Parts: sequence; C-alpha cells; structure tokens
Amino acid sequence: MSRSILMVLLATLLSPALAHAAEPRPIPKLAPEEAAAAEADYQRYCALCHGPDRAGHANDHAPSLKSDSLLRTAFPWLLRESIAYGRPGTPMGGYLDEIGGPMSLDEVRRMVLWLHEQGGSPEPIRVGSDRVAGNAEAGAGVYAQHCASCHGDEGEGVTATALGNPAMLATTPDNFLRYAIEHGRDGTPMESFAGTLSPTQMDDVTAFLRSRATGWNSDPRPLVPPPALADAVLNPEAAAPEFEFKNGHYITAADLDRILKEKRRLVLLDTRVASMWQIAHIEGAVPIPYYSNPGEVISALPRDGTWIISYCECPRAAADSVNKFLREEGFTNTAVLWEGIGGWVALGYPTAVGRADK
Ligand code: HEC
Ligand code: HEC
Repeated sequence: MSRSILMVLLATLLSPALAHAAEPRPIPKLAPEEAAAAEADYQRYCALCHGPDRAGHANDHAPSLKSDSLLRTAFPWLLRESIAYGRPGTPMGGYLDEIGGPMSLDEVRRMVLWLHEQGGSPEPIRVGSDRVAGNAEAGAGVYAQHCASCHGDEGEGVTATALGNPAMLATTPDNFLRYAIEHGRDGTPMESFAGTLSPTQMDDVTAFLRSRATGWNSDPRPLVPPPALADAVLNPEAAAPEFEFKNGHYITAADLDRILKEKRRLVLLDTRVASMWQIAHIEGAVPIPYYSNPGEVISALPRDGTWIISYCECPRAAADSVNKFLREEGFTNTAVLWEGIGGWVALGYPTAVGRADK
C-alpha cells in the first residue's frame, strides 16, 4: 500500500470530520476496462442485495446505490467507508481485505468511482462536519410520529436503513442525515420531508438520531485464517442428522442447534461476505461467501450425501443462492437455516468469533 493511500485511510479512520474537510480534488475518470472490472465486482458482490441495476431493495432492504441524493452527499468518503467496513449489526458486511473481505482498497475505490459514474456523476455536495443544533427531546417525538414506521422504534430498520446503527452514526456527519431527511432519496420510499416538517423539526430529529450514537467501539482483531474447505465435514465418522424440512428446504435454528450438539456428520457453510465470518459465526462453519468461485466449491465438497447446511444474515438470500447452486450441481442433501444467523443469535444460540487468540 502506498504511503499516501495509507495516510488517507488513516485520516478517514481517525476522523471522518477531518476527511470531510479535505480540499476537493478533481474526480478521476475510470478507463473502460476499469469500469468493466468494477461492474463485474458489483454484480458479483453487491447485486444480491442492492439489485443488478443498483436500485436497492432486492434483499434485506438494502438502500439504493443510484439515488442522486446519496451519491451527492456520500461520494466519495461515506461510500468508501460503508463498502470497506460495512455497517456492523446490519446485513451490510465490510468488503475490505484488511478486515477479511474480498476487495483490496483499490478495488473499493474503483467501485466508489464506478457507482458515481453510473449515477451520472452528480456534483458532490460537501456536507461538512458542523453539528446540527436541534432539540433531541423534541426530535424523539418527530421520530416516533414520522419515522419509526419504516426505520423502527429503536432505529433498528424495519423496511429501511437502521438509523440507530452505531456504525452508521459513527461515520455520517449530521448534515448527511439532515440532507437525506430534507431531500429524501429519489427513486426510493424515503420521501423528502421538506413539505412535512419545519426546518426546526428536521434539526430536532437529526439531533435525536445523533444523540443515539453511543456504544460503538471498534474492536480491532487479528484475522484468523478460516478452516480449509477440505476440512469442512464436521464429525466425519458420525451418522447423518435427522430433521424435518420447514417450508421446502429449510432447517430451523432449534433443529440445527440439536444436530450440532448431537455431533452429527454435516457441512455448515457461512455464505456471507467473509469479513462477517471473522466477526462471528456458528461454530464449525466454513466461509463460502455467495461470491465464491463455483468450481472450487463443488470440487471440495463431499458428494456422498453428507448434509450441507448454509446460512447467512439475510436471513436467507445469500444462503438460498448458494443452496440453489448446489442443488443444480447435483448435491441432494442440502438445507438452509430458516432464521439466518440473526435469528439464531436472537433466539439465544451460541456463536464463535474468528479470533487469533482462541
Ligand atoms: C447481504 C446484503 C448486502 C450485500 C451483499 C451488500 N450490501 Fe450494501 N447494504 C446492505 C444493507 C442492508 C445496507 C443498509 C444497512 C443499514 O441499515 O445501515 C447497506 C448499505 C450500503 C451502503 C450505504 C448506503 C446508504 O444509503 O447509506 C453502501 C454504500 C453499500 N451498502 C454498498 C454496497 C456495495 C458496493 C456492495 C458490494 C461490494 C454491497 N453494499 C453489498 C446490504 C448489502
Ligand atoms: C415510508 C418509509 C420511510 C419513512 C416514513 C421514513 N423513511 Fe427514511 N428511509 C426509508 C428508506 C427505504 C430509506 C433507504 C432509501 C434508499 O434506498 O436509499 C431511508 C433512508 C433514510 C436516511 C439515509 C440513511 C443512509 O444511511 O443513507 C435517513 C437519514 C433517513 N431515512 C431518515 C428518516 C427520518 C429522520 C425520517 C422521519 C422524519 C424518515 N427517514 C422516514 C424509508 C422511510
């Protein structure tokens, strides 16, 4: 990594405010082959949730990546940050190789430029890092009345972005939020509130969101090499698990917990972006992200009827796509965790962390 890239990255990490204050530089243009490579990365890594056309909401209520409103206020820093580090606690994982993802920093930067170009290269608005002085208490009332139906009582995101997510709040300046509220996100269910709320109310609800940005500590952990696919079979000597399918080809969290405790012979695949496996996974799972090389996967998995169970966060989109592919390739005993790892955790079942000190 070159020194200048490192410095830029450090500046972004240490202080979003500093990064936003940087002088605007001319926006580089992608050569055709770079754009083609970025598009291929996009279709491979992002289309699953954000849709092949970047309109969002294909899965997991992933936001639009083509709205003028987002591209103007998030380009380039916030886009880069969201893609590189994700939004821990939401289905948006981080894609940077440093945290266990599949993309180099250059590939992330190329993706950011490509998204901006695809969106018609709108002139970026520098939202700056000034605080929006509003009354958070009054804002709580505005939030409950106008926002909670989509964004959730606790900002957990029902059909929309998780506004209470500490990773989001830690990386977005007040005026980024304020702009989204005032202008909406064109082409999405997020309408402009300019006609509904007064400027003071918009300030108040921004202050309310900001007041909730506590409790997130980044916890840098050394990456652990994931287990090799060749060692994917758990309890190779044991008998096959027994369980009933739910809704076609799903296994419930209760059944998965039971067959893991019974130490049955099976393969457990974590199909999320690989950085998520590093953060937490179900014990025994091997990371086979939904964007894996299909040839490598099928040549490494056992063809002897061993059960192959996939899961993701979504709760099912990424795992379903891997499962469908396995079925098409002739693997017969395959299932997907119905609740996803989010449901698994919420139900109180255990996870393991990819820690080097374990
Ligand atoms: C498993 C589904 C999933 C995949 C795959 C995924 N995302 Fe996301 N992404 C999400 C969700 C959900 C959010 C919103 C998270 C939240 O609630 O804060 C999001 C948020 C974002 C944001 C922030 C947008 C905003 O409105 O603030 C960007 C930028 C983004 N994703 C880009 C990408 C890119 C680029 C890729 C591929 C490298 C990708 N995502 C892959 C689900 C996904
Ligand atoms: C009808 C449902 C709905 C309502 C009501 C709603 N939103 Fe949204 N909001 C969304 C959706 C969907 C998105 C993601 C849009 C996209 O695809 O880019 C969003 C995005 C946002 C974003 C951008 C977040 C990011 O990471 O880019 C902010 C900020 C936001 N909403 C704030 C609010 C506030 C504050 C209110 C209440 C005043 C509100 N919203 C009301 C649906 C809604």
